[in-house]
Amino acid sequence: MTEPLSEIAKAMVAPGKGILAADESTPTIKKRFDTIGAESTEENRRDYREMLFRTPAMKDFISGVILFEETLRQSAADGTPMVDIIKSHGSIPGVKVDQGTKPLAGHSGELVTEGLDGLRSRLKEYYGLGARFAKWRAVITIGKDIPSSGCISANTHALACFAALCQEVGLVPIVEPEVLMDGDHTIDRCFEVTEVTLHALYDALAAQRVVLEGTILKPNMVLSGSDCATQAGPEEVAEKTVQCLKRTVPSAVPGIVFLSGGQSDIDATAHLGVMNRNYDAPWRLSYSYGRALQTAPLKAWGGDNANIPAAQAAFAHRARMNGLATSGKWQPSLENEAA
Ligand code: 13P
Repeated sequence: MTEPLSEIAKAMVAPGKGILAADESTPTIKKRFDTIGAESTEENRRDYREMLFRTPAMKDFISGVILFEETLRQSAADGTPMVDIIKSHGSIPGVKVDQGTKPLAGHSGELVTEGLDGLRSRLKEYYGLGARFAKWRAVITIGKDIPSSGCISANTHALACFAALCQEVGLVPIVEPEVLMDGDHTIDRCFEVTEVTLHALYDALAAQRVVLEGTILKPNMVLSGSDCATQAGPEEVAEKTVQCLKRTVPSAVPGIVFLSGGQSDIDATAHLGVMNRNYDAPWRLSYSYGRALQTAPLKAWGGDNANIPAAQAAFAHRARMNGLATSGKWQPSLENEAA
């Protein structure tokens, strides 16, 4: 019998743990490898990700890993399926299933996420390969006169159709409506757009009869735009993020795992830490970070497998810091301790 969706969802936000987003598409991982001067070959991608997945700290701080399809099908250098390495830590494999963004017709400057055609059969195959959850990322851009209602409805409708298909085959959907931090907008404008987007998302999920207990939300934090002259500090970010989520996310949702979205490693940890220290919330508040977990180990690895111990230490440190942030126990002074 398949495990109930709500049990998988709860395990994805187990206390002290969060999700590693290692699902960069081939063009995106190339961009990351370019920053360290490494070539993005299939073998290099495997070695890098295998290094992360073999880090012992996975067991304590990583409840699940989002994979790109290539990795879901891939085996480690010694022939062990990557999925089995992840499961050996008690961590749950998942997969990114959207097919990226395209310009939204008739909406200059706005994007829509593609990938619904044929999704049912792909999801069944991914389940067979060991995935127990799937992720779909929608992108909402803030700018002059945008986002439009057309962009929000197209993207939230697609997220809801994706979520319903996932539940049909026994996969927990991670619904990710990312309001980008790019731009010079204020934190209050980010609040307003995030609130409207999340309202639309939960309306769409209800319309598609998605069972919220078997879902996870992956939102942006409520932040000042990256080019805004006045940057809100951690207390304000935490307060506004929790307030925005309380207004919009039903308490039946078991967990909310934030994306890092271009925040610095420490900001992403600090913001999560203050939320969990200062506020009681009806859902678990945790992480599903890509860059904020990987920037340090990627740099330490530098494309050279001789650096694997240093890279694993860097990954273990960030994972532990974020694990502490989920229980409000993170302090800036802990950043200087060795992993
Ligand atoms: P970042 O944490 O780097 O934003 O990545 C998370 C993710 O999965 C984006 O889809």
